[in-house]
Amino acid sequence: MISAPTPENLRRAAQIINDGGLVGFPTETVYGLGADGFNTSAVEKIYRAKQRPSTNPLILHLSSIEQLESVALLQSGSALGRRLTRIQHLFPGPLTVILPKSSAVPPIVTAGQDSVGIRIPDHPVAQALIEASGTAIAAPSANVSAYVSPTTAEHVEEGFGDAIEMILDGGPCSLGLESTILSLVGSEPKILRYGAVSAETLSDALGVTVSTLIKQVEDSKPIRSPGQFKEHYSPSTPMRLRDEVQPSSYPSKVGLISFYDNSTVSDASRYTTIRNLSDSGDLDEVAKHLYRAVRELDGLGLELIVIDTCEERGIGRAVMDRLRKATARFS
Ligand code: TXA
Ligand code: MG
Repeated sequence: MISAPTPENLRRAAQIINDGGLVGFPTETVYGLGADGFNTSAVEKIYRAKQRPSTNPLILHLSSIEQLESVALLQSGSALGRRLTRIQHLFPGPLTVILPKSSAVPPIVTAGQDSVGIRIPDHPVAQALIEASGTAIAAPSANVSAYVSPTTAEHVEEGFGDAIEMILDGGPCSLGLESTILSLVGSEPKILRYGAVSAETLSDALGVTVSTLIKQVEDSKPIRSPGQFKEHYSPSTPMRLRDEVQPSSYPSKVGLISFYDNSTVSDASRYTTIRNLSDSGDLDEVAKHLYRAVRELDGLGLELIVIDTCEERGIGRAVMDRLRKATARFS
């Protein structure tokens, strides 16, 4: 059930978390499907509801940096401690950091790994929920495994219906793409997933060039970060990058997702429907509206969705990363 984030509903949501149930909640990136991160049977419910492989770890959502010590092993004065200090101005925000895990975190959260992903979301409803529940909230994106992430409360309801007790409605997510994942467990910091916090921002903050470890690791085991898989987050309708398909080979029902004003589409009559994510090619707007448009077009019975591409700079890098993953199984 979708509920407005009133003080009363936030209290009820926190009670559901404390009782071992599931709550859908908004963050500035995408909606999460949350459970008490210290309650193994509650976390099991997330895996079951999402049909998520048990080898794919979850991230823990905290309300403040002070809560870090309850979930991660941190030694003051260590290289890790210094790195965290250098990036702490990026919290709260669209950044997940992989840290050595404390023994208090149950193995199910980290899929048995000795590291844990943590994030402090910059969203008043997420903050209020975490604070009111007084725990760390384990939450993946609130989509059925491998489908497109949700950016509205309705998307969460479409995926799970009544299987989760409450969905807090915070309106559409302001960023619309999952957080950047930064690993601080190796000898050098590495980006495991692109997001709104760019490699340049992280390199500046850390004082070293942060490289990316986003390779296609389909067959390697154990899975370090399934966010690195090539195929992920795809719609059911075949979706291709617009510049990789010859219009002469289009089937009859094709939808276009454009990054510009519709009037700039010269071959508009070829398309059954056109959604534009931005009037000006603004990549923040493109990111914000992307998943909603993909979900909408996926529901129209089209034979093909084609989508614009953009320059891989700033958030454009995260957009293109998601588009490659979403189109991989159709190309
Ligand atoms: O923006 C976000 O990060 C959203 C919101 C709800 O916070 N959450 C999210 O969670 O996208 P999820 O589970 O859909 O993606 C988290 C990714 C997964 O690819 C997972 O494999 C990776 O983080 N991950 C989690 N713990 C990890 C760990 N200890 N080491 C490496 N990767 C990890
Ligand atoms: Mg996800």
